[in-house]
Amino acid sequence: MASFIVDGADLYHIYDVDGYKYIDFTSGWASNNVGNIHPEVLDASIEALKKYGFVYNHPLAIELSERLVEITPEKLTRVSMEVSGTEAAEAAVSYALTAKKRPNIISFYGSYHGDSIGARLIGAHEAGRKKYFEALEGGGVIYIPYPRSYKLPPGMTQDEFAKYILWYLDDLILEYHAEPERIAAILYEPMLAEGGNYIPPKFFPKKLGELAKKYGWLIIADEVLTGFGRTGKFWAIEHYDIDIDILVTAKGLTGGLIPIGAVVMSDEVAGFEKAYSGSTFAGNPAGCAAALKTIEIIYRDNLLENVERYGMEALKIMREWVDKYSFIVESRGVGYFLATSIETGKGDEADIEIAKRIFIEAKKHGVWVIWDDEPHIRIYPPLNMPLDILIDGLEKLEKAISVIEREYKEGLIKLPEKRQTIEFFDF
Ligand SMILES: Cc1ncc(COP(=O)(O)O)c(C=O)c1O
Repeated sequence: MASFIVDGADLYHIYDVDGYKYIDFTSGWASNNVGNIHPEVLDASIEALKKYGFVYNHPLAIELSERLVEITPEKLTRVSMEVSGTEAAEAAVSYALTAKKRPNIISFYGSYHGDSIGARLIGAHEAGRKKYFEALEGGGVIYIPYPRSYKLPPGMTQDEFAKYILWYLDDLILEYHAEPERIAAILYEPMLAEGGNYIPPKFFPKKLGELAKKYGWLIIADEVLTGFGRTGKFWAIEHYDIDIDILVTAKGLTGGLIPIGAVVMSDEVAGFEKAYSGSTFAGNPAGCAAALKTIEIIYRDNLLENVERYGMEALKIMREWVDKYSFIVESRGVGYFLATSIETGKGDEADIEIAKRIFIEAKKHGVWVIWDDEPHIRIYPPLNMPLDILIDGLEKLEKAISVIEREYKEGLIKLPEKRQTIEFFDF
């Protein structure tokens, strides 16, 4: 990932060591949801550090657990503190397997649950992430496609693809891979974040939920990136009609200042069977204090409404890019969970190269976006970013896109060779 060295930050901006200022469309990789170094979150963390330093048993963990139970679906009543999103996602899977006493989970191609070996194996972000670890894959994870909206199978709409995936799961997987009673849970990102910022059709999670109910599967919602207001609701599952049993949170949980994660789950999951998770600094006092303050700020400052409204304005602008620029094929998003995708028709590597150039050019224009070796530009502003700064950032980004479009059209960009694939659909 092309990057630069940060020298400082204020709520909505980043400054680099060369003295340049950037509008921050990354929020610490979707973690600093109430802005970079929010002063109240910082004060709360310092207070907790002064009072408790690091101890394992402290009242803030109880207070935060109670608050998390209040702001998650009613069925979720138990909390396990963790230290990161990776640890929380792994813990959620271990709780689910233990509770159900079944050996398999369903997971999705493109999903990212962290970068430890365990998290790489329960997700499928990209093939390269499993290189040299393939042998550790024990078979307990059954992958199915995620209902994305970009580079669909030829001739299929996103809805048709999503229906195909449900059929693939209910018909092929259960007939040929594992019987339903051998599956414990579905590990699901309600919107696929690192995998490309995709938003499934409304019916998809509803039907997943119906399957889960029919077969006794738990649903684990990994809300590490989509949670804490990112999509204009506190949790992305609130956009859908789906019942979940376990919710995984981290990143925005503490306003990004002190790392902690948490698993919030039902009695059925955590109530009976002895299960294991956690590590030394899980639920540390400063992290819990930061999380309590972050929750307070999100509600007190009505950030969810801002994000919903301003996010729609942003998306309107970004959708115009599809008509204006030859290689922009889709802009999508909800709230401050936004992305635009590149497709040149010259292969995946060429699309990634164009996105990379836009990312670099955008920095020259004073806006910092997310690009992670992918054919997309992702935009995750802090939830409290005002509309004028948001629009200014989008205008700067559009200038960068237009520079790259001109260079592309003039043949000034050397694109990688197209990987030869078989043309299945030209008969
Ligand atoms: C959905 C999801 N789960 C888990 C993780 C891992 O979280 P962390 O980086 O805090 O370990 C991420 C990180 O991007 C994520 O997006």
